Amino acid sequence: MDKFVIEGPTPLKGTIPISGSKNAALPLMAAALLGHTSSRLSLIPRLQDIDTFNRVIAETGTTIHFNGKENSLVIDPSGLSNTIAPYDLVRKMRASFYMLGALIGHAGEAKVSLPGGCAWGPRPVDLHLQGFEKMGVRIKLDQGYVFASIPGNSVEGGEFTLEPSSVGATINLVLGAVKRAKFFVIKNAAQEPDVVLLCRMLQKMGADIEGIGTDTLTIRKVEKLEGVEFSNAPDRIETGTYMIAAALHPESEVTLTGCKPEDLGDFPRTFSKLGVDFQIDGSTIFIRSAENIHPVSIKTKIYPGFPTDLQAQWATLMTQANGLSTVTDTVYFDRFSYVPELNRLGANLRVEKNNVTIHGKTKLIGAAVMSTDLRASVSLVMAGLVAEGTSEILRVYHLDRGYEKLEDKLNRVGASIKRVVQ
Ligand code: UD1
Repeated sequence: MDKFVIEGPTPLKGTIPISGSKNAALPLMAAALLGHTSSRLSLIPRLQDIDTFNRVIAETGTTIHFNGKENSLVIDPSGLSNTIAPYDLVRKMRASFYMLGALIGHAGEAKVSLPGGCAWGPRPVDLHLQGFEKMGVRIKLDQGYVFASIPGNSVEGGEFTLEPSSVGATINLVLGAVKRAKFFVIKNAAQEPDVVLLCRMLQKMGADIEGIGTDTLTIRKVEKLEGVEFSNAPDRIETGTYMIAAALHPESEVTLTGCKPEDLGDFPRTFSKLGVDFQIDGSTIFIRSAENIHPVSIKTKIYPGFPTDLQAQWATLMTQANGLSTVTDTVYFDRFSYVPELNRLGANLRVEKNNVTIHGKTKLIGAAVMSTDLRASVSLVMAGLVAEGTSEILRVYHLDRGYEKLEDKLNRVGASIKRVVQ
């Protein structure tokens, strides 16, 4: 397994281009399976998770072609004949479970492996399954697989309330409903930009969805959807990650290009409390850090609140703020595997239930660290950038799942990160 060797501390100076969003791309790829003709998606990042989903999709007989140079993907579902998403692929990435909605939509039946647990707790799919049952889809669980079928060509539908609101369940239910449910209402639907983008693509394909961007989505069945050309959005979590990375070292000056600031929700407002110089101009974000970073406590919430996918990075930044702060995760209660690792670098963090208290500012000293998930791993890379001496970040395959060209992008603006292939 590859590792990163980082020499620090290094300020970051220069421009970092933002890639297409991983979490938004996956549902768009699933939506392409509902088309009568092929779809072409642009701004698709070259990432492990995209490759994994390509393989899940190809397994069905769909033709899928990724052009890495252009970051585009052409998906032709006309040959789709196999409605199974097997365990050995689904277990690699939870979002493969979107195949349930996509296959119900395309074929009216599906056999999709349950995704199982993950590095930060059980992450259930009960809401996905209850929602489909409410829609009128027959759901049966057998030997770790979900078997879904519908009687005839369509189901009556109905109304389903997500409690709590779930991005994945909203996406799956929308995918399943647009071609199958006569009338289906999703209440407390996720309003994340990834959900909005999926609905916009489906609308362009011919779907009838009302309430896009609100917490109530109303779907009326259409017989046929056409393939479309559609652009993915810039990655809002990558954007937030590099904003935080730029604030970490007092001498950093970074410009992020190709961003979509309107997808960042309340994050820029929280960021502006740090006391760093920060400006948004169209799709460009400029950050000039400061000697004195203010401690800013955060609580993760659903969109537009502070994203859980940025809490580990924020806690890392808070190790360099002057004073006491807290990070509370209300979306996932158990997403703190980075805490003992940051403490090994010299930070002072204490976890209690779903809350971390951070005493800043502490000097970080390089060491070997390891993490068990994507966002925790990137927070350790960021800590390595400001730690004195050599840090080794083990198991960087987590990063390859979700950050396009991470070490290239950071090295180009002054970091010293070497990938050691093991
Ligand atoms: C997506 C993102 C992930 C992000 C998360 C929250 C992708 C591929 N992943 O994950 O990066 O951290 O949103 O913004 O886009 N829940 C249930 N039952 C269910 C489904 C969810 O109880 O059936 C709960 C979860 O345990 C969690 C909450 O709902 O507490 C929100 O999870 P959800 O929005 O579904 O996250 P994902 O879609 O899995």
